[in-house]
Amino acid sequence: MDPKGEISEIRERALSEIASAQDEEEIESLRIAYLGREGRLTMILRSIGGLPENRRAEVGKEANAAKKAIEDALKDAQEALAQQPRKPSLDVTAPGVPVNLGTRHPLRLVLDEVLDIFVAMGYSIAEGPEVEEEWYNFTGLNIPEDHPARDMQDSYYVGQDLVLRSQTSPIQLRYMQTHAPRLPVRIVGPGRTYRRDTEDPSHSPVFHQCEALLVDKGVHMGNLRGTLTEFARRLFGDAVNVRFRPSYFPFTEPSAEVDVTCTNCWERGCSTCGGQGFMEILGAGMVHPRVLENGGYSPDDVSGFAFGMGIERLAMIKFGISDLRSLYRNDLRFLRQFGGRLR
Ligand code: PHE
Repeated sequence: MDPKGEISEIRERALSEIASAQDEEEIESLRIAYLGREGRLTMILRSIGGLPENRRAEVGKEANAAKKAIEDALKDAQEALAQQPRKPSLDVTAPGVPVNLGTRHPLRLVLDEVLDIFVAMGYSIAEGPEVEEEWYNFTGLNIPEDHPARDMQDSYYVGQDLVLRSQTSPIQLRYMQTHAPRLPVRIVGPGRTYRRDTEDPSHSPVFHQCEALLVDKGVHMGNLRGTLTEFARRLFGDAVNVRFRPSYFPFTEPSAEVDVTCTNCWERGCSTCGGQGFMEILGAGMVHPRVLENGGYSPDDVSGFAFGMGIERLAMIKFGISDLRSLYRNDLRFLRQFGGRLR
């Protein structure tokens, strides 16, 4: 490049950088960058001796003018900075900045309540992987490979024999296997679950469940009924009843669908409960002997009950939410309504 062109480019650059410098330190480092011993303009000044004689004077003049302009700009910038009143680092008289603490999600609120109820009854909390082995999610729970129950919980396969768990029931098996033959087994297992369902007001491909498992000597269906009645009353209030309807799950025998009094109509029948007076809240039953065996316990010596509930469903009932999808839309105006404020 022509030395004159280069000089004017350096000059413009320097002036604009100096104009936007914020503090002494920045001004000093610009001085070094342009006028220091290795500075860009210094290098040009030093190379003038090597130019053809007829150009030296002209380029030298240009370079010196640029040097002067940059020096002046540095001086001006320094003075301007010195005039500015120094900002105090802390103004103790300024009003405080409000801290936005957010809100606990309605699903979290309900799950915490559920867990609290069971922990108060002596249950421990157990967890399991969301990416689960097919054996724990299906086969070990007495759902053989060609069983229609697999279709009902059509899952996402993520590899050979690996699924995103379609239920929290695999937690039962994992816990029994690592604790057998100790008694009692008394756990609740919350977690995220996945099914190949299309989104609608009551379905989501990702949802949450909470499992419960109790294994001990002589556990019977009456214990299951008593436990569920107590649980329902602590969650929905003393006035609710539970109702068992015969059902089928491969991992429990006998199995039941469990309903609780509709808290909208108190068993008179309304549109919320489809005229039933009751709302289904969970699936339950006596642990199938084969599942006890797979967990390392002898069905001749011990028995147990298990149940599993959908957390979205409980939240919808408890808070009167009509569309499950609103739980996932992250609209704060909606999410803040449920008393989960953190203070
Ligand atoms: N895992 C069952 C479901 O997802 C619920 C269930 C759990 C039923 C434990 C019985 C016992 O539908």
